[in-house]
Amino acid sequence: MGDYDSFVAKFYTATGIDLTQYRQSQMERRLTTLRDRRGYTNFTHYLEAALHDADLMAELMDRLTINVSSFYRNPERWQSFGALIAKNREQNGVLRAWSAACSTGQEPYTMAMVFSEFMTLSQMEILATDIDPHALRVGQLGIYHSDDLLTIPAPMRGRFIHTLDPSQGRFSDDVRARISFKLHNLLSDDFPNHLDVVVCRNVFIYFTDDAKEKLYYKFSESLRPGGILFVGSTEQIFHSETYGLTQIAPFFYTKIG
Ligand SMILES: C[S@@+](CC[C@H](N)C(=O)[O-])C[C@H]1O[C@@H](n2cnc3c(N)ncnc32)[C@H](O)[C@@H]1O
Repeated sequence: MGDYDSFVAKFYTATGIDLTQYRQSQMERRLTTLRDRRGYTNFTHYLEAALHDADLMAELMDRLTINVSSFYRNPERWQSFGALIAKNREQNGVLRAWSAACSTGQEPYTMAMVFSEFMTLSQMEILATDIDPHALRVGQLGIYHSDDLLTIPAPMRGRFIHTLDPSQGRFSDDVRARISFKLHNLLSDDFPNHLDVVVCRNVFIYFTDDAKEKLYYKFSESLRPGGILFVGSTEQIFHSETYGLTQIAPFFYTKIG
């Protein structure tokens, strides 16, 4: 077994994260750069060191999980999303939504703000999951740097963000109460069901084609008939009908009823 393959096998045993389901060239390149920077010439020694050094392991996990996110990422898509959900939702019921691979929480908070334009907070239930516990902790706390909050429309900022000091703000208790942050591995854990909405953006790109296909089936099963799946900019689903999904607009699919 080669050095990288043996790292992948040992990493799986240590963390439960199966790197064989991530696109190898991209992942190996990312991890090699970090390994070299830390002065290791092979993955065997690097992992050995990381397993005995929490900081090194945290850095490795951080590199691997790629937590980049922002509020209202691709704002025009969020506008289309809001319009679709407002039209599609079952009146007066509670809207059950899932932000899958939510990173540090910007996506589920954006969902809550978008939904708040046409429903009360008590009418929404948002599940926000990720494989990275550190990222989830940030989301749970709901505290962000003021610069990061600037992409939120001013009226929403006024309504939902409390300024803590000039450099940071926190989402109000009422909106935080609508979002449950949970640890979840898309590649191995069970999926929730009867959902009205699934948002899964900017994570499919890291997975192999096989892994992606399995996810499309599982997301489709998670949705109620007529429910909506929102994917990332470079993550269009080809032959979506195969998975029981019909494209209704670029980046949006509905579960065939
Ligand atoms: C680039 S971020 C995307 C964040 C957000 N969805 C957005 O579009 O702004 C990718 C996230 O996927 C998460 N991730 C990677 N592999 C995962 C897996 N197997 N299960 C769940 N989350 C995963 C990472 O931890 C990271 O937070």
